[in-house]
Amino acid sequence: MRILVCGGAGYIGSHTCLSLAERGHQVVVADSGVNSSARVVPRLRRLAGMPVPVHRVDLRDRGALSVLFATYRFDAVLHFAALKAVGDSCRRPLEYFDNNISGTIVLLQTMQAAGVRRLVFSSSATVYGEPAQVPVREDAALSVMNPYGRTKLVAEQLIGDLCTADTGFRAANLRYFNPVGAHASGLIGEDPCGEPTNLMPYICQVAVGVREKLRVFGGDYPTVDGTGVRDYIHVVDLARAHVDALEYMVREDRSVTVNLGTGRGVSVLELVHAFERASGRRIPYEIVDRRPGDAASVFADPSLAQELLGWRAEFDVDAMCRDAWRWQAMNPEGYRTSVRRTPVMRVRRPKIVAARVADAY
Ligand code: NAD
Ligand code: WQD
Repeated sequence: MRILVCGGAGYIGSHTCLSLAERGHQVVVADSGVNSSARVVPRLRRLAGMPVPVHRVDLRDRGALSVLFATYRFDAVLHFAALKAVGDSCRRPLEYFDNNISGTIVLLQTMQAAGVRRLVFSSSATVYGEPAQVPVREDAALSVMNPYGRTKLVAEQLIGDLCTADTGFRAANLRYFNPVGAHASGLIGEDPCGEPTNLMPYICQVAVGVREKLRVFGGDYPTVDGTGVRDYIHVVDLARAHVDALEYMVREDRSVTVNLGTGRGVSVLELVHAFERASGRRIPYEIVDRRPGDAASVFADPSLAQELLGWRAEFDVDAMCRDAWRWQAMNPEGYRTSVRRTPVMRVRRPKIVAARVADAY
């Protein structure tokens, strides 16, 4: 299939492009560049071993998106394109609503106009708010904790309404728990802008000496060691799930909503110690007050994804830490610098037909 990957230059999208290529699918990326580096592109092409056209397109740009759909005949769309920082969304809710919700609406309208009726959507465990019980099943109550979470819940609902109205439209809502890790090559990974808000990139920056110490938010939760428990999932496992979901939609001609996690809860300190073992570096930390809005323990019941998609996570926490560390050690400042120069394979540039989308990376 030929797949449009919106947000494919970002962290999870770039890994998923590789999984798609590995399974023989053709990939075209649309990314506004708001949270991605152009430097990911040659690495992506090199690892994919095939041309990957990458277009700088904002999903809200209806004209550019239409030209893209007219240029290629897509069989399906994977939609990663969103702003994702919870704290930032509380400061700038309207930007999040516009980027994430308006972007999704324009994408759905353009898909419908072009007759493309398969969508895989990046949802999040954030749609469960603070879950009443763990492990969390897909039929748990949904709620909103912040503007970012609202964009995910609203987008799921918009997509659901479209599936009801257009009976041929199929969608997969994939509710990710806590994606971490990186591709085994160390060439692509997570590159947060500024100070990381998520735990694993923060640990990585402490390990590499960019940050002095980790602040552990809360040591008095009712958990194994008093620190918060989450379900960390390797980004390569997560990427593979997208291809499984896509192929499920085609094979079964059905829509689906599933959790993507390992089903195993890991505390902050357990992750810190696993990272220390994997990296051989000490991670200095201090326990500080709880972070407002954090739940004590959130982890998935991933059995529905196994039952329907035949997917289950393969990598454990040690592998997640090993691969996150390899990426960080090879790229101490993310895509801005590399310890090892990464040779770029020459690829034939795709012939871009339309001027509006010719602004490729
Ligand atoms: P990311 O920021 O690395 O990737 C998102 C990509 O989308 C970026 O390359 C960005 O430039 C692009 N983008 C944003 N708005 C766009 C727009 N309007 N038009 C075109 N491109 C646009 O984030 P990620 O971690 O790879 O997350 C991917 C998706 O998964 C997001 O939708 C996010 O909300 C969701 N998600 C992420 C996590 C996580 O912890 N990383 C957890 C659950 C869900
Ligand atoms: C994990 C644990 C923190 C940083 C967030 C979003 C969620 C989803 C994934 C997109 C918690 C603790 C963290 C630090 C710490 N994103 N922590 N010190 O909060 O589970 O989920 O990312 O959809 O919507 O809310 O992930 O990595 O921020 O935190 O102690 O410097 O690490 O308190 O227990 P979270 P996280």
